[in-house]
Amino acid sequence: MAILPIRRAGDPVLREKARRVRTVDSSVRKLVEDMWETMYDAPGVGLAAPQIGVPLRVVVIEVPDHPRVALVNPEIVKRSGTRQVDEGCLSVPGFRGEIVRSVKVLAKGVDVYTGKEVRVKAENDLMAEALEHEIDHVNGILYIDYLPGPDALIPLGDAPEVRP
Ligand code: NI
Repeated sequence: MAILPIRRAGDPVLREKARRVRTVDSSVRKLVEDMWETMYDAPGVGLAAPQIGVPLRVVVIEVPDHPRVALVNPEIVKRSGTRQVDEGCLSVPGFRGEIVRSVKVLAKGVDVYTGKEVRVKAENDLMAEALEHEIDHVNGILYIDYLPGPDALIPLGDAPEVRP
């Protein structure tokens, strides 16, 4: 296992449409272990393979209230509703931005540990957001693409305190 450098916005690998994985073999499982280790170290709640410079369709996500998932060739099956979210990305460090995501998300992919297709369902939570965010990554899309312009990026730590 290894903690790998996280590629930042501007790196062309983040803009490629990543390749499908043909076989879930030991090299893919090793990739996933490196992704977990890199994600936990960051720390973050999700990571896509292009973020460590590997142009393959592999994502990992661990958020509260869901089992962690490592998906190969993930796809959104269905999504509905819209909601405003405050999003960030390990490849855009130091910033966040308000964008629109779906309320309900159903995704599918091959579970890297079992080699079987699984479906992941989420509603109105961080898993729903992370599924769309990480699957965007393997399609070369960053959340900043949904912002009206670079001025819409909010520096972290500069946000007004909004607490109940
Ligand atoms: Ni990201």
